Amino acid sequence: MKQFHVDRSLCIQCAECAKDCVFGLISMESGYPVLPADKEAVCIECQHCMVVCKPGALSILGRNPADSLSLAGRFPDKKQMEILIKGRRSIRRYLPDPLATETIDELLKITAHAPTGVNSLGVEFIVVEDPRTMDAIRRETLEALQDLAKRDAIPEDLCVLKQMVPLMEQGLDPIYRGAPHLLIASAAEGVPTREADVYIALSYFELLAASAGIGTTWCGLAKWTMADLAPHLLRSVGVPENHDVVYMMLFGKPDVQYYRTVQRDQDAKIRRLVK
Ligand SMILES: Cc1cc2nc3c(=O)[nH]c(=O)nc-3n(C[C@H](O)[C@H](O)[C@H](O)COP(=O)(O)O)c2cc1C
Repeated sequence: MKQFHVDRSLCIQCAECAKDCVFGLISMESGYPVLPADKEAVCIECQHCMVVCKPGALSILGRNPADSLSLAGRFPDKKQMEILIKGRRSIRRYLPDPLATETIDELLKITAHAPTGVNSLGVEFIVVEDPRTMDAIRRETLEALQDLAKRDAIPEDLCVLKQMVPLMEQGLDPIYRGAPHLLIASAAEGVPTREADVYIALSYFELLAASAGIGTTWCGLAKWTMADLAPHLLRSVGVPENHDVVYMMLFGKPDVQYYRTVQRDQDAKIRRLVK
């Protein structure tokens, strides 16, 4: 049951809720919005009806519109977004100190608002908070890569992983970069747009973290090792067996500061389609 309620004393009968419903499920009856019982099953619970209602007359899923954040004039402006998008960097030097649990939780709770196809909200996170667990992952990764290298089982297109082995044996950390934390995002088979959902979630996390002075690095090297070559490592970090999309991101306090944006040689690759 979607608990669709309209406070008629507040409703201004503008029908914005009906117009904004992704599947047009809301009808106006006697001037007031109604979600017919036979349409409830199709509702994807996106809450657009509630948040588009100017007077806050509509509630769904038992939510009180007054508990939402108010938006008027509160988005960062375009210049701020430009600086954030152009100024975020892949951080490859981290301070060892772990972040507070509350800080990590806050970042992830906000990240959970990233869009997902058909509002499936199917992205799941595994967080490595504890530096000793990070060290165990470093060890297991090295062991897996040593074994793969010995068996000549690292494919040509991932041969960069071969070069990691001697570096790691020397005590360097070319995959995990000394980061105190690892974020693993994954989604189960059956989540309709899981690949995009996982990447979007991590992208939002990356930008949000940067805005909070927290560094991140997409960790393709770990993803290749764990997901593509040594899937037993995925099980060992707790990714469920039915999750077939997974990506990883390092994060923590940066031990580096950047003073300006990079300058890309090429502009965006754009072709205008005209038919
Ligand atoms: C999907 C993906 C995987 C990546 N994997 C790694 C990685 O394993 N290690 C690393 O140091 N950087 C990794 N990066 C970071 C890129 O190298 C980096 O984004 C690029 O060099 C541009 O630098 P910038 O992010 O500072 O702008 C990855 C980036 C993406 C998007």
